[in-house]
Amino acid sequence: MSLLSVRNLVIDYAETRALDGADLDVAPGEKVGLVGESGSGKSTLGSAVGRLLPRTARRTGGEVLVAGEPVFDLPPAGLRRLRRRQLGFVFQDPIGSLDPTMRVGAQLRLVLGRGADVSMHLERVRLDDPRVARAYPHQLSGGMAQRVAVAMAMATSPELLVADEPTAALDSQVREEVLNVVFSLAADAGTSLLWLSHDLPAVARRCDRIAVMYGGRVVEHGPAREVLGKPAHPYTAALAGSAPAAAAHGARLEPVPGRPPVLTGPSPGCAFAPRCALAVDRCHHERPGPVRVRHQDVLCHRAGEVTA
Ligand SMILES: Nc1ncnc2c1ncn2[C@@H]1O[C@H](COP(=O)(O)OP(=O)(O)OP(=O)(O)O)[C@@H](O)[C@H]1O
Ligand SMILES: [Mg+2]
Repeated sequence: MSLLSVRNLVIDYAETRALDGADLDVAPGEKVGLVGESGSGKSTLGSAVGRLLPRTARRTGGEVLVAGEPVFDLPPAGLRRLRRRQLGFVFQDPIGSLDPTMRVGAQLRLVLGRGADVSMHLERVRLDDPRVARAYPHQLSGGMAQRVAVAMAMATSPELLVADEPTAALDSQVREEVLNVVFSLAADAGTSLLWLSHDLPAVARRCDRIAVMYGGRVVEHGPAREVLGKPAHPYTAALAGSAPAAAAHGARLEPVPGRPPVLTGPSPGCAFAPRCALAVDRCHHERPGPVRVRHQDVLCHRAGEVTA
């Protein structure tokens, strides 16, 4: 059974449709990378997992199940319990995710409970210096602060950790170290990982599966090696082709000419059609339903015809 199951989820921010029928499954212990250009809906999907969306967001359709529990239909106490016991979150801005007025050790004790071994939890994220526990967040480097955030998110050994570009704000030298910490703690605890990222090659190195988002939908999902090596969606093929060069320059992905869509309602056809070299008439008018191509689930009318 899936630990996380997102079914046809539709989320609107006022006039903007951020998710346009997104589907995603994460099995227990699985490491899933969620990739896509800026604005494709990664953060909206990641936050929806814990119902941590901004007030202006509205769920217009679909559902999110965590261990079978419907996140959007839980009463407040049930939602708190789910967040505390089953879910962990790490966001892009590490210092912003900590309380600036509280020493690091005190914040950890708040999560762990009184009498908890704070230094052990800091050592698990390779922060061995005892001064860290006595420091305020602004006295830490970005990399150290993110390790503290990881320690807090993993303190309760959640079943699922959602990491939303956890290293995007960090210097490139410390990125790998922070990712190493995240992945080794998750492996030790048997925690499933949903890692939101722009970096397709990095995701391919570390994840079992890759889900590719475009226009608020997961347009391709499958084993990492297959998705990267034999993409079935034209958009993935473009991403896979452009990723190494883009990554080398540390640039954000710009895989195909043209701009990603900003939707104001349901996309009438495939949202990628205006930029797609394979698009035919039907792609502009008919929403693609899921098809299975080799090991991948794909939303594309021409999925079987892609050759990367
Ligand atoms: N708080 C908000 N209010 C209004 N619109 C929003 C808000 N957050 C996101 N959006 C819009 O929803 C869409 C999806 O955004 P989202 O942040 O989920 O994408 P993303 O894939 O995480 O992008 P990025 O890679 O830049 O983090 C975009 O069109 C974005 O402009
Ligand atoms: Mg985002």
